[in-house]
Amino acid sequence: MTRTDDIISVKNVYKVFGAQPGLAMQMLKAGASKGEVFEKTGQVIGVFDADFAVRRGEIFVIMGLSGSGKSTMVRLFNRLIEPTSGSIFLNGNEITGLADKDLLQVRRKDMGMVFQSFALMPHMNVLDNVGFGLQISGVNERERNGRSVEALRQVGLAGQEHCFPHQLSGGMQQRVGLARALANDPAILLMDEAFSALDPLIRSEMQGELIKLQAEQNRTIIFISHDIDEAVRIGHRIAIMEGGRVVQIGTPHELLSRPANNYVRTFFNGFDSSRILRAGDIARPDVAAPYIAGTQPVLLADTPLKEILPIVATATCPIPVIDNAGLYKGSISQGQLLSCLSRA
Ligand SMILES: Nc1ncnc2c1ncn2[C@@H]1O[C@H](COP(=O)(O)OP(=O)(O)OP(=O)(O)O)[C@@H](O)[C@H]1O
Ligand SMILES: [Mg+2]
Repeated sequence: MTRTDDIISVKNVYKVFGAQPGLAMQMLKAGASKGEVFEKTGQVIGVFDADFAVRRGEIFVIMGLSGSGKSTMVRLFNRLIEPTSGSIFLNGNEITGLADKDLLQVRRKDMGMVFQSFALMPHMNVLDNVGFGLQISGVNERERNGRSVEALRQVGLAGQEHCFPHQLSGGMQQRVGLARALANDPAILLMDEAFSALDPLIRSEMQGELIKLQAEQNRTIIFISHDIDEAVRIGHRIAIMEGGRVVQIGTPHELLSRPANNYVRTFFNGFDSSRILRAGDIARPDVAAPYIAGTQPVLLADTPLKEILPIVATATCPIPVIDNAGLYKGSISQGQLLSCLSRA
């Protein structure tokens, strides 16, 4: 069953790299691990029984250590890589098994890809680089240039149309790469470590641009990242991959408050959790606070930390926290708040 608000759904997808995928699949189904399959057969498991969906209009971040299968997963979406087994649906239609002609259509219309290396043509100016995909698709020059100019405006590069790549900084080159993907107006933008080569300030600026663009256009963005700060900042949901498996998918808050295993927890080491903590996470039922509904200030459980701080800091007694149904969850004292902040 695929839900109508799912844009991509992935059903029991496996990808085995090597000449004997059948043998590897047999071993996997019999319970062998990625390591055992590699040791015995030399086959590499890229993706292991992936089963999840990406929702229309969300920024879906894929995180995981190097080699965990992130790029393989994204390449399965636009079928740069064929799955060894399982199915992938786009808008409820299976794309695994599409004929080449239809597949080309999907790649052109539905998905755009932005890479870590900007992959610009050095001999072409910015305008032609942005319009390159459109040109290949047979879009005439007038329309191509119109759409390219608009895409350049969206990424803040209006007026740079006639520069050549070598005249641009890394951040500007990455914007050109983004504009090239946007010019096609794809429903889904696939971004594989697209900002990883940028220095921190430019990277943060590009993250801001991406959030803004996504909010304006309601495009679905699938974004691979190594960086938890980046993932939390831009991701509505994050999928964590380990050894080819998707081990957990959730909002940043869900992953931080209920990590599925130690691997997921490790990603949050050193992370400033105060950025996503809410009143319900901090409230303690054992902090004594008389709570009589309607007689004193209360906090809703999903109030973010930055709004809690001024209230608790100036209060003379612990502040009760209630959930959306009005049920008492516990209270936050100044001491409790301080200890949370010192752990963050
Ligand atoms: N074409 C290929 N042939 C053989 N093995 C491959 C191929 N592509 C990927 N792999 C293997 O599949 C696994 C997943 O690789 P993938 O590139 O998807 O990882 P990744 O999570 O994107 O890593 P990174 O963060 O380093 O980019 C790795 O073990 C890798 O060696
Ligand atoms: Mg990769």
